[in-house]
Amino acid sequence: LNNGLARTPQMGWNSWNFFACDINETVIKETADALISTGLAKLGYTYVNIDDCWSDLVRDSKVNKHLCHHLFVIMLRRPCAYQITVNFVYSEKVGQLVPDSKTFPSGINHLADYVHSKGLKLGIYSDAGAFTCQVRPGSLFHESDDAERFASWGVDYLKYDNCFNLGIEPEKRYPPMRDALNATGRSIFYSICEWGVHDPALWAGKVGNSWRTTDDIKDSWASMTTIADLNDKWAAYAGPGGWNDPDMLEVGNGGMTYQEYRAHFSIWALMKAPLLIGCDVRNMTAETYEILSNEEVISVNQDPHGVQGRKVYAYGPNGCYQVWAGPLSGQRLAVILWNRCSKTGSITAKWSALGLESSISVSIRDLWKHEYVSQDSVGSFSAGVAAHACEMYIFTPLTETKSESWMTNVRF
Ligand code: DGJ
Repeated sequence: LNNGLARTPQMGWNSWNFFACDINETVIKETADALISTGLAKLGYTYVNIDDCWSDLVRDSKVNKHLCHHLFVIMLRRPCAYQITVNFVYSEKVGQLVPDSKTFPSGINHLADYVHSKGLKLGIYSDAGAFTCQVRPGSLFHESDDAERFASWGVDYLKYDNCFNLGIEPEKRYPPMRDALNATGRSIFYSICEWGVHDPALWAGKVGNSWRTTDDIKDSWASMTTIADLNDKWAAYAGPGGWNDPDMLEVGNGGMTYQEYRAHFSIWALMKAPLLIGCDVRNMTAETYEILSNEEVISVNQDPHGVQGRKVYAYGPNGCYQVWAGPLSGQRLAVILWNRCSKTGSITAKWSALGLESSISVSIRDLWKHEYVSQDSVGSFSAGVAAHACEMYIFTPLTETKSESWMTNVRF
């Protein structure tokens, strides 16, 4: 979407994967504090995104009562004005979204002020249907009212879900919110959460800044690898302004090993996926922090070239030895050797498969060891990779390259 946002994939935190509905304003504020105190905000994690369950179960009934009272008074005095007012009220619709007064008693504008005062941005959630997935009011047919409300609160990001959608096609339900957000005049990131059901990569580029390509991620190796493969299919459609979204990170939530989480983070970074942390950043282990704070991996994700890396080839039993790669600015290449087998193995990246001229000499930096592992590789590069682990590198060509052509054989 050409709204000036998402020149690189969005980075931040979202409440759903760890907290689900168990959220409140203290959790959100403490998370903002933790993003600052841990240094994660400085690394680019700036969106603090509230997911489902922030809103009251019904739209504001006080507004209705207030209006009824006024209408009654007008009716007694001037029946004609009464008719005009009734028409106006019905055409504009009454009843605004309100935060749950028990969990967000100070209001969303207060939270927005709080996170803004720390240099962060606030995200909120709604649904392109009659209700959200947790049965709070949805925004379908309330797009203008709700977008204006979000903008008036100072919200910077909207995640827009797909539950209770009345069977209306997403291609019809998602653009009205884009237009409503645009009409507010506030710069609001628009995250389409349509679960990949109607191949959003094919139509959402003009509608949102990112679009979910799959069903919800689970905190497991099986779910993470399946989602990586599904998201890979749409690589050609991602770019500055609009990204494929294989769902939020599970790093730190306990269902995968350190190596599996490292692979999850590396592949998400290479695929130019949104890097939205999904754990409790107030209580991270050192390992979780090490993964999420790897600046070299983050810089692959945030590279201005903005091309989604993809699975280049797979071999071995069930294709479990995999080479993933993508081009970076400065004629560099990000390469991942991913061992999806259950035993340690050696994986080889061949220049021919990467589309490199066979004679080219390459310097290779290991993004997890933070050191150069080769200054003059030619033809291929191999490394031993532990089960379910990956190694991630940046290849920089040393030989004079023929302009852009050094990796043209691969359709990046
Ligand atoms: C479904 C979405 O895919 C999830 O990411 C989350 O937002 C839940 N709905 C919330 O109900």
